[in-house]
Amino acid sequence: ADPDPLQDFCVADLNATVSLNGFPCKPVAEVTSDDFFFDGLSKEGNTDNPFGFAVAQGNVLSFPGLNTLGISMNRVDLAPRGINAPHSHPRATESIVVIKGKVLVGFVSTSNVYFYKVLTVGQMFVIPRGLVHFQYNVGHSKASLLTAFNSQLPGAVIVSRTLFASNPPIPNQILTKTFQVDDDVINSIKSKFA
Ligand code: GLV
Ligand code: MN
Repeated sequence: ADPDPLQDFCVADLNATVSLNGFPCKPVAEVTSDDFFFDGLSKEGNTDNPFGFAVAQGNVLSFPGLNTLGISMNRVDLAPRGINAPHSHPRATESIVVIKGKVLVGFVSTSNVYFYKVLTVGQMFVIPRGLVHFQYNVGHSKASLLTAFNSQLPGAVIVSRTLFASNPPIPNQILTKTFQVDDDVINSIKSKFA
């Protein structure tokens, strides 16, 4: 989804003062092999939280060598019954490969059709760009997956946080009308994200 590169590489200078669509390149003479290496996906994340979820992001912000190359990867770890809650990526299609455990992956199309599959190790699923999707560990042990994106910075709109934990908050009257429930239901959900 990202534009094509115009040169071999453009290792991001994340500290540049100029603001543009992407990042300026650090001087070619200062580029080393380490700029094309990222160790951030090698370790299991801490899933000791209410969602049983951890994500490590290998995007241009953590791995500046990806700048202009149009790709990135994440690692997701899930405790048993852990969830990567429904979210979408505005700038990328996502492919998913399970590297440990048994994971239910699903997305919903713009026609509101739910597509899903239970994946085991080595199996792959694809989430079309922009569609809301999730991953849920249906196995009895930990699960891990690698996700690959056709963007250096796919972005993530996490539906629950977008609606119930924005800053400043969306007024309750919007949410009670939207979900056809009373204030106490909205307040209860909002309190989980406080
Ligand atoms: C998984 O859905 C991810 O965005 O890494
Ligand atoms: Mn995703």
